[in-house]
Amino acid sequence: MLYQRVLITGANGMLGQELVALMSRVPRYDVLATGRDEGPRFSGASCGYLPLDVTDPEAVRRAFLDFTPGVVINCAARTHVDGCEDDRDTCWKVNAVAVEHLARQCHGLGARLIQVSTDFVFDGEKGPYRETDRPRPVNFYGKAKLAGENAARDAGIDKWAIARTNVVYGAGEAMPRSNFVLWVIDKLSKGEPVNIFTDQWRTPTYARDLAAGIERIARFGKTGVYNLSGRDFVTMYDFAQAIARVFDFDASLIHPTTSAAFKQKATRPPRTGFIILKAETELGFKPRSIDEALRHLGTRLGLPVTTS
Ligand SMILES: NC(=O)c1ccc[n+]([C@@H]2O[C@H](COP(=O)([O-])OP(=O)(O)OC[C@H]3O[C@@H](n4cnc5c(N)ncnc54)[C@H](OP(=O)(O)O)[C@@H]3O)[C@@H](O)[C@H]2O)c1
Repeated sequence: MLYQRVLITGANGMLGQELVALMSRVPRYDVLATGRDEGPRFSGASCGYLPLDVTDPEAVRRAFLDFTPGVVINCAARTHVDGCEDDRDTCWKVNAVAVEHLARQCHGLGARLIQVSTDFVFDGEKGPYRETDRPRPVNFYGKAKLAGENAARDAGIDKWAIARTNVVYGAGEAMPRSNFVLWVIDKLSKGEPVNIFTDQWRTPTYARDLAAGIERIARFGKTGVYNLSGRDFVTMYDFAQAIARVFDFDASLIHPTTSAAFKQKATRPPRTGFIILKAETELGFKPRSIDEALRHLGTRLGLPVTTS
């Protein structure tokens, strides 16, 4: 059997853990998980692990020379959107410059680079977006991620792919950060109120489905931009209501608010979300509905879920 060597960066993060779990189970892939930590945060995956800070070009070069990957999936990112406004330098180094290092090494080896990106490359005036729509970021995180997208193209013609996604939720082991669904579950399960935006529209994405879409980009050797998200276009308020419904929490704890009333450090684009037709037709990407995904997640977390 011909093995495909797959190097995953940011493997200890939410998406990274899902990708490692999925791809290390497939005999065709020889997976090297890499992350900033000394060891993996996940257990049970049959793959190698290497500590790797993607902002260190020499360490990236050595990792590429030793492992000679055929595919690199870049899940490493500074994902704290408000934190990126405060610490622009780190945000730019991780989300933009590090992708230049990765693309350069991919180009040298003839490896493919799959760069994970975000709806925040758009201004949110006209969502849901297609792959061909023109980016115009409104915060620093979005600007840095857009620069990262552009850098990924330097891997070479037919060697780069960009997987754009939004509002990713899921579960993992010792995850570095929480996510919207886990946060809402935590609050509502304690009977605590939450204020949720009625004017921010998204297509929330179950991390396990996103990983399945990215694996298909790798498997089919696809090039170009792919929108990989859920297909339900909802406000964050509607999404929180779905969480309350599926986990049988008191929905009256969810208070509607607006971006104008509840200021955040980084401007949020109002209407993003994605049209995923290209991924559905070219990759056979089939994300679960919000309710199905939440039930699946609930079962993994050992939480009781309603049946309809
Ligand atoms: N989560 C979302 O809602 C969302 C939405 C749109 C797009 N995305 C994109 O999806 C991708 C995966 O995000 P995620 O949700 O899995 O985020 P995450 O859980 O925050 O994972 C990101 C990982 O990158 C690591 N990392 C940060 N700086 C690094 C460095 N210099 N070298 C190596 N690793 C580094 C982090 O490690 P530390 O914990 O040590 O910092 C973390 O393990 C990112 O490209 C993100 O921009 C996510």
